[in-house]
Amino acid sequence: MQNVISMRDFSRLDLDTIIDNTLKIKRDGIPNKLTDIPVASLFFEASTRTRTSFETATRELGMKVHGFAGKEGTSVMKGEPLLDTVRMFLEYEDQIIIMRHNLNGAARFVADNIDVPVLNGGDGSANHPTQTMLDLVTIQEEFGRIDGLKIALVGDLKYGRTVHSLLQACELYDVEPWLVAPQNIMMPKWRIEDYQREVGKKLLITSDFMKAIETVDVLYMTRIQRERFPKGPEGDVDYAKVSGIFNLHAEMLKKAKPELIILHPLPRYKHNLEISMDVDCSPHAKYIQQAGNGLPTRQAVILKALGEGFEGRKKDYANNEVWQNIRVVNGAKKGEHFVYRINNGTLIDHIEPGRGPEVLKILGLQEDKDTTYILARNLRSKRYICKDVIGVPNIELNEYQLSRLGLVSSMATINIIRDNNVFKKGKVSLPPVLDRLVECQTTNCVSNPETHEFAPSKFYVESRNPLIARCHYCETPTTRKDLKLL
Ligand code: NCD
Repeated sequence: MQNVISMRDFSRLDLDTIIDNTLKIKRDGIPNKLTDIPVASLFFEASTRTRTSFETATRELGMKVHGFAGKEGTSVMKGEPLLDTVRMFLEYEDQIIIMRHNLNGAARFVADNIDVPVLNGGDGSANHPTQTMLDLVTIQEEFGRIDGLKIALVGDLKYGRTVHSLLQACELYDVEPWLVAPQNIMMPKWRIEDYQREVGKKLLITSDFMKAIETVDVLYMTRIQRERFPKGPEGDVDYAKVSGIFNLHAEMLKKAKPELIILHPLPRYKHNLEISMDVDCSPHAKYIQQAGNGLPTRQAVILKALGEGFEGRKKDYANNEVWQNIRVVNGAKKGEHFVYRINNGTLIDHIEPGRGPEVLKILGLQEDKDTTYILARNLRSKRYICKDVIGVPNIELNEYQLSRLGLVSSMATINIIRDNNVFKKGKVSLPPVLDRLVECQTTNCVSNPETHEFAPSKFYVESRNPLIARCHYCETPTTRKDLKLL
């Protein structure tokens, strides 16, 4: 794996190696140069530290970097699709794309469509993996370890991508993360559940800031991400409720552990400082040193991405067979209803009553003018009392087409009929990947049609019963009741 997109992709070994390599670079300098390799640095969103540290890292490595800092002044303002902008840089033979974008999943979408490594400098509220790497470097530097520490994530845990990536990294270490935030900017429920499922432990959730200050080893402060709140009066009201909710002052640190370190990805917000200026000279304050670690960390990341790459984290996606054969007993399909009088074609039996129209929709039969079909609703069923049945004369639907059925009917039995006989009979379950089948409900996801980026919807089925499918781009999991068919 050469891309750096989401913490969900990395193994503990990957992170430990980056930490080690970074500390080596800090001690001994850059191990090897990548002279004259061209690199694109495409920052569609504002950035100070991430962009300059990435660009300085590339220059010190001997690479040639070009690109843009902010979408203002680029053709993005004329409505250019993301992929067009990025692909242009491949024409300059750039060997790495470093990018930041306001849409969740933007880096993943780009990586799917090009064959040079993509380094994600932040995508919407979703991920900021290299920030997490430099956070871990700073913690390691200060404590000589990461395991065994209590780490409080404070502030905007809803829209803050740095804390999203950091919590995912915590899954790989034996740490005790605390989530410190009021309800309306709390970490999304699914992220909490992901952590708890992975680690098998409950997360400590509190709004008691003082208790956190007095107990933890690492206090990770964040800015309220005003720009990611919904636009309009509703967002304004939401923001007003939380702006300035956690302001850390020097005198609040009196009862802190002597070894406590205070981190912040920066910037802090000058109109309502989440870390007051009087904390800066406290021995606990490590956020400036943390920002400085951005440079060697990103050098280590670039060298690894262009070198041997990363091991990656094993993901557990459901991958059972889509089609399950059912033994054909008498070989013929007869019934009172005329739908059973199909001599050749496909007969879909035992559909849950009322679901027939949805099945037609998912198989694309409604729109297809050339295909005739028969839909029988609420037929009597020996097995299920009542059922819908669909007959498609003269067409044998393929297993992939039929596998879509699993989304709306788990009971249906499929009969492939040839010359009046049931040639093959089976049940289908969902395919492991739902390709262009359901729409992502995350408004800021790059695959959401409203963004006009044309990222084809893709979900991974993580569990079949109950159904949980995760968006390939924004990583949000969805349950059956929230799935919206395309
Ligand atoms: C953060 C970001 O952009 O997500 N900054 C950074 O990269 N150091 C945090 C923020 O903007 O609040």
